[in-house]
Amino acid sequence: MLPVGIDKISFYTSNYYLDLRTLACTQGTDPEKYYVGIGQEKMGMPAHDEDVVTMAASAASPLFDDEQSKTISTLLFATESGIDQSKSAGIYVHRLLGLNANCRVVELKQACYSATAAVQMACALVARQPETTVLVIASDVAKYELDTPGEATQGCGAVAMLIKANPRILEIDPQVGNHTEDVMDFWRPNYLKTAIVDGKYSTKIYLKSLKKAWENFTLASDVSFTDLSHFCYHLPFSRMAQKAHKHLSRVNKSSLEPEQIEAQIEGSLLYNKLIGNSYAAALFIGFTSLIENSNSDLGGKKIGFFSYGSGCVAEFFSGTVVPGYQQQLFKEQHQNMLECREEVDYEQYITLYNAPDPQNGESVIIDVDTTGKFRLAAIANHKREYVER
Ligand code: CAA
Repeated sequence: MLPVGIDKISFYTSNYYLDLRTLACTQGTDPEKYYVGIGQEKMGMPAHDEDVVTMAASAASPLFDDEQSKTISTLLFATESGIDQSKSAGIYVHRLLGLNANCRVVELKQACYSATAAVQMACALVARQPETTVLVIASDVAKYELDTPGEATQGCGAVAMLIKANPRILEIDPQVGNHTEDVMDFWRPNYLKTAIVDGKYSTKIYLKSLKKAWENFTLASDVSFTDLSHFCYHLPFSRMAQKAHKHLSRVNKSSLEPEQIEAQIEGSLLYNKLIGNSYAAALFIGFTSLIENSNSDLGGKKIGFFSYGSGCVAEFFSGTVVPGYQQQLFKEQHQNMLECREEVDYEQYITLYNAPDPQNGESVIIDVDTTGKFRLAAIANHKREYVER
């Protein structure tokens, strides 16, 4: 069977961020609670003319040129902050990126897990038709009520991946471990703009699901804990991954020292600390962070991935980094994007938080605010109008 997996990967986040010291200072909270306790420093805030569609298109646009776009047979769009109950956000992206009319598009949802479902489905499609390419995009805005424990774990971002046969970044193993359970740890009814979350419970269910998914993985795969050199976890906040990896190390009775255990995940946390939670995109932005920031050559190394989507579905899977992967990365562009962002003060943050949200068909023209390639220019007659900036 031909190897299938990630051939290219690129991410995008908005041009604004709030430093969590500013949030802590306004709330009268010790900033160390955020910087150390949850392990987060900044959170991305979407500009007024930015949403999951514009972020998704901006993430994907560096991945291919016009000629290569003709081989993309399917666009799978994973999100839990979608803009329509019926039409896939991916169709707007399909037009903005000039994809072929013969490329099918569909949106997938299962909280933060859906991007992993999309990647696995993409691998299955490519295995059936090895000459095709599937474009997987995950894009989300993590939004909680103000003055709740979740507020400091907001963020936004999108990640785009080309899934191909003989991939040049990561060969994904077909064996996976799953755990699904009907729980109410985090959810967002259709009539709400922000998620409802039972925070402490959600962290317990995350850890329980990790153990269950891992146990299921060991039944399917010959890959053992010691075969895995690095790990990428779903990242609601970086401290969650640190707790998760310690938990998995204990479950496997690892003989590694605490610093060695930490070294297996630290590269994957760097971008998340600066962006915040990006829900479905978070795991794969974490993987990008790992491969773009590792001091050693990861070529040939086995990586373990844990995907978690509240509600809940969890999956453990593995993959091998392809030697020479460094040539496929957009490291400089990503790091420039993060460095060029503008810090906002608390009042600007509140203005961005309360972005215009017309619900009665009224017309709203939105000023240019994003520095990204695509923008939401207007909303009128219940229709969203996207343009290239
Ligand atoms: N200095 C250093 N550390 C400090 C501190 C200080 N001054 N003050 C507090 N801390 C530490 C605490 O000791 C605690 O550490 P431990 O977890 O090791 O005990 C940590 O900071 C957090 O403090 P609290 O437990 O008091 O924080 P909280 O209750 O106010 O909020 C939270 C934590 C419940 C996770 C909250 O951020 C939340 O609800 N987040 C959203 C839900 C979430 O992300 N859940 C994760 C699993 S679900 C999932 O993964 C899906 C998803 O994407 C949402």
